[in-house]
Amino acid sequence: MACATILVADDDRNAQQTLETLLTEQGYTVVFAANGHEALERLQESHPDLCVLDIDMPRLSGMDVCRKIKSNNETKLLPVIMLTGLSPDHEKQRAFEAGCDDFLTKPLQPVELLTRIKSLLRIKSLTDALEDAEVVLFTLARTIEAKDRYTMGHADRVARYAVALGRNLGLDPNSVEILRKGGILHDIGKLGIPDAVLQKEGPLDANEWDMMRKHTLIGCEICGRLKGMKDVLPIIRNHHERLDGTGYPDGLKKGDISDLVRIVNVVDIYDALTSRRSYKEAFSPEKAFRILWEEVERGWWDHDILKAWENMVHKHQIG
Ligand SMILES: [Fe+2]
Repeated sequence: MACATILVADDDRNAQQTLETLLTEQGYTVVFAANGHEALERLQESHPDLCVLDIDMPRLSGMDVCRKIKSNNETKLLPVIMLTGLSPDHEKQRAFEAGCDDFLTKPLQPVELLTRIKSLLRIKSLTDALEDAEVVLFTLARTIEAKDRYTMGHADRVARYAVALGRNLGLDPNSVEILRKGGILHDIGKLGIPDAVLQKEGPLDANEWDMMRKHTLIGCEICGRLKGMKDVLPIIRNHHERLDGTGYPDGLKKGDISDLVRIVNVVDIYDALTSRRSYKEAFSPEKAFRILWEEVERGWWDHDILKAWENMVHKHQIG
């Protein structure tokens, strides 16, 4: 990845020049920023493959820039190397807490810096490939909706609702990310269902229902080869399960259905009820909750999760 772009943020002109010579000699494109604020601007403009940040900079410190990079979904996988000439042990711990991927002390050892850059760029190219594959899957999932005007926006809404509900329930960021991906991809298996079934205006016959139910398994086949999707597969496979075991495809019961799947269960049905479909008008949130509570009584959905979702919708937090 010798043609990679590296953002160097350092207010020390001498350090800038040393790094410029070193990195351009290796074929890297170098973008400079003289303070933390400028570093964030360059980041937006030049989409670098790696950042080298001095910790001690005016306006916004390297530590603050690193925190911003690592807390933004779009840049969190961007490798960051922090540099400092100050009390290294103390700074090192703070830098890693801020999320940096590597840490070097000034004066810089060129061989050490170049080795670290190379290794982080190798990892970056692998995560980029994985991200590209995920983007393809997300795009495919949205093409299903393009075929059917009634389900337009369904996957994105389910993802948004599931993320909000997961956060409200106090789930950790990793679980919330699984909910986001699961929300977008839960119906991706519909790619394998014939349009005549998918877009049928009237009720489906028994054969067509059999075909339709297979979208959960087809979705797992589509996403199952991507290792990064491992944690999302239960949502794709089991989002039509019910707690009483009457769902599909596995007829799972209570303890076998995870909280993440239960969350998607609830928001998926809520969105279907409050959206217009070929066979029905969009129901009001009140009517949707009446139906969902009846289904909780029947033993289908999780009481506490539905309660939390209803509170959020009533407080106009979402939905
Ligand atoms: Fe589905």
